[in-house]
Amino acid sequence: MNLFDVYPLNDIEITKASFSTVWDANGQEYLDLYGGHAVISIGHTHPHYVTRVTDQLHKVGFYSNSVKIPLQTQLAEKLGKVSGKTDYQLFLCNSGAEANENALKLASFYNNRKKVIAFKGAFHGRTSLAVAATDNPKIVAPVNETDNVIFLPHNDEAALAQAFAAYGNEISAVIIEGIQGVGGIKEASGSFLQKIRSLCDEYNAVYIADSVQCGYGRTGLFYSHDYAGVNADVYTMAKGMGNGFPVAGISIAPKFKPWHGMLGTTFGGNHLACAAALAVLEIIEQDNLMKNAEVVGSYLIEELKKIEAVKEVRGRGLMIGIELPENLADVKKNLLFKHKIFTGEAKPNVIRLLPALNLTKGQADHFLNEFKIALKG
Ligand SMILES: Cc1ncc(COP(=O)(O)O)c(C=O)c1O
Repeated sequence: MNLFDVYPLNDIEITKASFSTVWDANGQEYLDLYGGHAVISIGHTHPHYVTRVTDQLHKVGFYSNSVKIPLQTQLAEKLGKVSGKTDYQLFLCNSGAEANENALKLASFYNNRKKVIAFKGAFHGRTSLAVAATDNPKIVAPVNETDNVIFLPHNDEAALAQAFAAYGNEISAVIIEGIQGVGGIKEASGSFLQKIRSLCDEYNAVYIADSVQCGYGRTGLFYSHDYAGVNADVYTMAKGMGNGFPVAGISIAPKFKPWHGMLGTTFGGNHLACAAALAVLEIIEQDNLMKNAEVVGSYLIEELKKIEAVKEVRGRGLMIGIELPENLADVKKNLLFKHKIFTGEAKPNVIRLLPALNLTKGQADHFLNEFKIALKG
């Protein structure tokens, strides 16, 4: 049997990892500024995480949502505290797409409406409604096509107000990333998020903050949307939540009332997933990782802005996009194969930095030095 060949692969096998360092099968060391696609939040193989997951595996790894799982309650309490939304409710699932799918579904149950506003450049996942709300027709299969999703220009308050004026009473939800990741590290402006909040209030629509990539402390705030100073109704989260263990969730405002059977999943909130997610929050809190993301991230952004060859630097905290001119299209590949540094990318020519939140200033300096050399070719 062959693998279904959907991923373009780098010819590298990672066999060992520690914090922001990984090693390949030949023992070659790399600096990981990609964090396995923004997933590694507290560092690869963090000892507290390994111990907590291992201990849990020795007790019970999985039982279904038909019995009490106190670890879920502990996780909800901890998440409420660290995110500052203590009165929100937690539903646990397994991936970012699933989190968004459930958030959109919850909104529709809540106001009994069908239309969703999403934005140009958005990526919300690959399941049916999440992919329909994703601005990439190539990955939308005919069966996912729907007239229920309206795409508007990003950060365009007038277009948003116009859409609400036109279909306000049909709009179930507005879904937006605090910082578009796949779209090339483009931040939603504070005033745009405030406008979403006020229009959703006026029309009883649901504001969904997709925090799958930009959330979980990466920007220095728990949810990147928080810098706008207004609350979303639902926050979706996944990538950093389990430091590599597949776990996702939605944080739901108190006004939503659950009923048995409303949402559900077999694997969501299992014992191992909760142990992994608790270990992550414990380290974020104990090691003050949001502060570190802010400090090391701001330093990187400032230093990158000084480099002349760079077209633009965007982002916040440790979610950084470096836009390069077309003639420097090989830099990302050279960073990996010549300079042994993993980074992410976005089209057309943006290098994405999404490292673990405990990246050190020393590691940031190492990247800056190697990057300057890579720019010279
Ligand atoms: C903003 C955002 N939302 C949703 C998703 C989908 O998450 P998953 O791949 O876990 O389904 C992603 C994945 O990259 C993402 O960046």
